[in-house]
Amino acid sequence: MTSDRLIYFDNAATSYQKPKEVTYSVSRFMEQSGGNPGRSGHRLSVEAGQTVFSARAEAAALFGLKDPMRVIFTCNATTALNTAILGTLKKGDHAVMSSMEHNSTARPLRELEKSGIITLTVIPCDGTGRIDPGDLKKVVRSNTALTVVNHGSNVFGTVQDADAIAQVCGALGVPLLLDTAQTAGVVKTDLSSTPAVMAAFTGHKNLLGPMGTGGLALSDRFDHTALRPLTFGGTGSWSDSIEQPQFLPDKFESGTVNAAGIAGLAEGIRHLASYERDIGSVMAHKKALTDRFIRAAADGVGGFTTYVPAEWIETGVVSFNIRGMLPSLTAELLDSRYGIMCRAGLHCAPLAHRTMGTFPQGTVRFSFGIFNTDDEVDYAVGALRDLAEKNGV
Ligand code: ALA
Repeated sequence: MTSDRLIYFDNAATSYQKPKEVTYSVSRFMEQSGGNPGRSGHRLSVEAGQTVFSARAEAAALFGLKDPMRVIFTCNATTALNTAILGTLKKGDHAVMSSMEHNSTARPLRELEKSGIITLTVIPCDGTGRIDPGDLKKVVRSNTALTVVNHGSNVFGTVQDADAIAQVCGALGVPLLLDTAQTAGVVKTDLSSTPAVMAAFTGHKNLLGPMGTGGLALSDRFDHTALRPLTFGGTGSWSDSIEQPQFLPDKFESGTVNAAGIAGLAEGIRHLASYERDIGSVMAHKKALTDRFIRAAADGVGGFTTYVPAEWIETGVVSFNIRGMLPSLTAELLDSRYGIMCRAGLHCAPLAHRTMGTFPQGTVRFSFGIFNTDDEVDYAVGALRDLAEKNGV
């Protein structure tokens, strides 16, 4: 059996479809204003610079920042996380991360630990995948230089209490790096009144922009003077010197940025504002789909197991399994027979799977986006019921 339907439930990997304004804006940039931003003085270069500045202002507003220069563009969340981790930590430092981290955090930290540069403490999460912010006080040492926390789990959809964590880190004098890859655009992160916080974000998930976009937002109280850049090079500024500029954002933005992608990112963020205004709220929409899915599947699909109660899931990300079926097989059959696209396995987050007891087999993950509908969820529940029955569950 094959299906003519195409249902996209893989928005945690990348959002799809993109709003048409995003596509138009990328193509408009390529066709009409393709100069290099901040380099030459001619009109196309100036226009490109304005496009990038306006995207920076949109991204800053999203994080409650008045100064757009406190947003550094990178090509994805991983580069932003690496900038913050490798730029902060030095020989003899101690770092803390939660047990729900994605490999984009766990791997650079582990690399530093393995090389004998830092010591690392993993702070355990509870059965919903959240840390108790008070636990930070037990693990922080005099040489702790960074705490890294995944704001929203890319596997299980639970969201950490970022404000409480930031306040504890602030009181302890430890900068916090928040991985907002799954939350930016769904859960508000307001950096205006937090202590020293860096928020890494990606443009191509909930912000609805193209791949190859993302950044690092620095809270007003984060002092970047001690943060070393990951890359050095041409910035279009201080051109008479071989020293790296020390001001934001140029200090961290060497090389030509992905201006066409950034033009699309700005439109993605604007589209979210229109969605909030006209439809309600992104989080409410995702929570409604999550709730509908978990209720119906728990009632109607034989052997269905999920790991986190619906009320804890804020980003539309649901992990589940069907007893006796390998997650990869379930996902493959959902695609080939029912036209449902999702992601199965370990989702680049072995720590999160170990924490929730789903390592090494992993889970099937549905991740709902703003364009998904109740009807698609109902169809997917029917498909899972069918699969479970055919597999004798
Ligand atoms: N980190 C992305 C995911 O969870 C790619 O699928």
